[in-house]
Amino acid sequence: MRSCASFIVEPVGLTLETLPRPLVWRDVYANDNPVELEIGSGKGTFLVEQATSRPDTNFFGIEWANWFYRYASDRLRRRSPNNSRCIRAEAAFFLREFVPEQSISVLHIYFPDPWPKTRHHRRRLVQESFVPLIKKILTPTGRVQIVTDHKGYFEEHIEPTIKNSGLTIIDYNRPGSASDGEFVGTNFERKYRREGRPFYAIAAQM
Ligand SMILES: C[S@@+](CC[C@H](N)C(=O)[O-])C[C@H]1O[C@@H](n2cnc3c(N)ncnc32)[C@H](O)[C@@H]1O
Repeated sequence: MRSCASFIVEPVGLTLETLPRPLVWRDVYANDNPVELEIGSGKGTFLVEQATSRPDTNFFGIEWANWFYRYASDRLRRRSPNNSRCIRAEAAFFLREFVPEQSISVLHIYFPDPWPKTRHHRRRLVQESFVPLIKKILTPTGRVQIVTDHKGYFEEHIEPTIKNSGLTIIDYNRPGSASDGEFVGTNFERKYRREGRPFYAIAAQM
């Protein structure tokens, strides 16, 4: 296993090709603080707010779209202390190949792409095949939090998947990034809230 100590501090945005498998979080952050991971970070609003307000926790964002990844990593680089990193990668692949077992204290998934057409449902992130990855990466007391605006995705996949996963359902915990009345305070939540959409949230613990 190669060490990735040379990635400390810069760049905030990591490069997949140069990382060891599995990652060693201590080498990435130069500390042993808990690591929280967000899948689909978009513009990085959650990561920036949480990383700046909670310096004793490390934050890691995975984002597939290059434009969002560049936007988020630039914001993190300018705004955050040394406790945030992000990467452009497909989340399931990254969790499987790079994230060490039992190493994530909270997995955040906010407004995952709903893939509304029936023939595209198999592309949805949260479904039965994703459960082993959640269980692989969470610490023994780790938890997962998911919020969506899409009723169909929630009722057909997210809720049954999490309820049948063997994880224990717990109260959803609003992160500090959320303003009054918000679930999490991401860009998509704020946009959808202006449109008057309802939201659905679930949380579960190992
Ligand atoms: C609807 S946006 C939500 C962004 C942000 N979480 C928010 O609430 O503002 C979903 C994001 O997840 C990313 N995404 C979708 N599938 C992904 C995957 N398999 N791996 C990594 N990122 C993914 C998309 O590129 C997109 O930026």
